Amino acid sequence: MRDLRALYRRLREEHGPVAPVLLHDDVPIWVVLGHAENLHMVRTPSQFTRDSRIWTPLVDGRVKPDHPLMPHFAWQPVCSYAEGEEHLRLRGAVTSAVATIDPRRLRRHIGRATQRLVNRFCERGRAELVDQFAEHLPMAVMCEILGMPEEYNDRIVQAARDMLKGTETAIASNEYVMDCLRRLTARRRAEPADDFTSHLIADPARLSDDEVGAHLRVVLIASYEATANLLANTIRRVLTDPGFRAQLNGGQMTVPQAVEQSLWDEPPFSTILGYFAKEDTELGGRRIRRGDGLLLGIAPANVDPRVRPDLPADMQGNRSHLAFSGGPHECPGQDIGRAIADVGVDKLLMRLPDLQLDCPEEELRWTESMASQHLVELPVRFSPRPQQDVTSQPSHTPMPLPQQRAAWDISTVRAFAAPSGPEHTPAAGTPRPRPPAASAPWPRTMPVPSTLLEPPPVREAPAGAGAAGARDRPAGVWQRFLRWWRGE
Ligand code: HEM
Repeated sequence: MRDLRALYRRLREEHGPVAPVLLHDDVPIWVVLGHAENLHMVRTPSQFTRDSRIWTPLVDGRVKPDHPLMPHFAWQPVCSYAEGEEHLRLRGAVTSAVATIDPRRLRRHIGRATQRLVNRFCERGRAELVDQFAEHLPMAVMCEILGMPEEYNDRIVQAARDMLKGTETAIASNEYVMDCLRRLTARRRAEPADDFTSHLIADPARLSDDEVGAHLRVVLIASYEATANLLANTIRRVLTDPGFRAQLNGGQMTVPQAVEQSLWDEPPFSTILGYFAKEDTELGGRRIRRGDGLLLGIAPANVDPRVRPDLPADMQGNRSHLAFSGGPHECPGQDIGRAIADVGVDKLLMRLPDLQLDCPEEELRWTESMASQHLVELPVRFSPRPQQDVTSQPSHTPMPLPQQRAAWDISTVRAFAAPSGPEHTPAAGTPRPRPPAASAPWPRTMPVPSTLLEPPPVREAPAGAGAAGARDRPAGVWQRFLRWWRGE
């Protein structure tokens, strides 16, 4: 990736925002480097399509079936490659099923899955966070969302990893994952439940079993790889960039802002292969011919000097990066990816506030491909901590009072002040929070005092009488509402 970054810089200097390059076997393609040019391409379906079957080198046989990049551009009957009415039909079913996911329930699942994963290693004082955390959390959450929580285990994580690495066993691993998804489809066709798969099946678009299976695969694999990268990249940045960490500690940056900065600087997919010209046209001053292929240059677009003249300056509050692409194919699962990263990173750092990198930074390695960069290992150390109970449910019984945050002192909403004003004035002495506007995008955040956001210390609380007394005190309506609202 470091080399690719230098390559993109050189290409931009030599060719401008759209540069000609050669793929393996000298197959020609354009790489789109400019932010505006990439945006124009993804937003102009009348000129550019994701349907690779019109790509000239493929049509005239220059791209052989065993081309190493074939898995990236081989056309499949899924929404990613479809266009027009067919794209609307397939994507509509996916977005409708995504819309049925309750954000509070989602955050609760993510929180619990994080606690379970951290429980596996917290007593040891050492962990390898790519293998033990970043690659597991998205899979645990997605298996739950899709409706197959019982399928989540080390085997399915390994299979997904194997498929993406394209190792010798990739075909067998793909078959294992597809078999899980086919069985899930059959189960839900016979007995629907309130999960993503059942809603996908029940959609008026009437997807066939093959279409359901293929879309479950797209959703599972896209979210697994991208979100694992996002988690690993964000945690690595926190551990290796003292300025970044200081901003989090000091409350100048929230975890969602840290995740957003990571999406700018290290997008989980660095390029997408590809888009294809439907007619002769012009892009970034280049003459593009019908049938030409173009790489969606997410990573180079995100560092385009025209949108980021001062590269080190933070991009807080600005979400116009292309990590989720744009236009008709823009990622429909971006809020899920963001929620997994936000909650996962926040809870990890709250549980292990003194998390440190356990090797010199220079020893970190990435597997580098044109499509993505993937951190191989992230060894960490921390003070050993006891496991936490992840089974406790929110209830109306008295809850322990929150403890003061440890050194991390971060939260998703810390930058806001405590609620005040007429909307929050209690009718009868009880604070009553105002629900967020219906149009607000989720995950919604509420302006709340940061001290209310600390989860109850389940087994870690000191055993002294004073602490016991504090724990017996009933929590306010605010605290209980907030826990419920945040899905804790
Ligand atoms: C951090 C996490 C994620 C990132 C960075 C990401 C990024 C992307 C990108 C760059 C595309 C390609 C858009 C294009 O072709 O122009 C895409 C498409 C897609 N993503 Fe995601 N994604 C993430 C998580 C998810 C999740 C959690 C889901 C689950 C619902 C998901 C489902 C999809 C689907 C179905 C498509 C194809 C959409 C279409 O072609 O209409 N993604 N994603």
